[in-house]
Amino acid sequence: MSKAALLLLLVLAVRAQDKPLGLGRPATAAEIAEAALTVFPDGRGLPSGSGTAARGRAVYQAQCASCHNDNGEGRDAQYPALKGGIGSLATRSPRKTVGSYWPYATTVFDYIRRSMPFDHPRSLTADEVYSVTAFVLFLNGIVAETAEMNAKTLPAVKMPNRHGFIRHDESPVSRARRGTK
Ligand code: HEC
Repeated sequence: MSKAALLLLLVLAVRAQDKPLGLGRPATAAEIAEAALTVFPDGRGLPSGSGTAARGRAVYQAQCASCHNDNGEGRDAQYPALKGGIGSLATRSPRKTVGSYWPYATTVFDYIRRSMPFDHPRSLTADEVYSVTAFVLFLNGIVAETAEMNAKTLPAVKMPNRHGFIRHDESPVSRARRGTK
């Protein structure tokens, strides 16, 4: 390429940066609603709808058991157990599951809604997600089979490991560095 052509390209490239690229279009409100799936620990973002573990049993058998096994015990090394391990985290053989490790029930809802069933995520209705979330909590002995889970009750569920996490700036190492106890 000649020097003049290079210079021209450079000038064009610099000028192109003055303006927006003009690609794409603003997302519509419907598209944003479709993508705005985040459920916060305190329950913000939960959709309307409800479910119980009793209703979730059928959803679980049809949509989840093929991988996670009949009662959430997991399958092979590939498909994680969804229950058990409560109280094991500080032992020599910790088992992390939804029941033993996850601090918020709302995160279980968020995770299942956005990514399960693994082979066709986001195919469940809000009622089905509430129900199957309730069923997983029920398998762990955290909620009763008939307890209704909805945008109000789910954030109030107390997970066994809720207080097992420490903020990094409050860890013994951070405190020692700051010289506080
Ligand atoms: C096709 C197999 C498959 C199906 C069906 C499936 N899952 Fe999963 N699930 C997985 C795999 C694989 C993982 C691990 C994903 C990872 O770690 O990235 C997982 C992870 C999970 C976890 C997180 C476990 C943890 O402690 O990290 C939950 C909760 C869960 N699945 C719930 C469900 C529910 C509820 C259903 C039914 C609605 C379902 N899954 C259906 C394969 C499946």
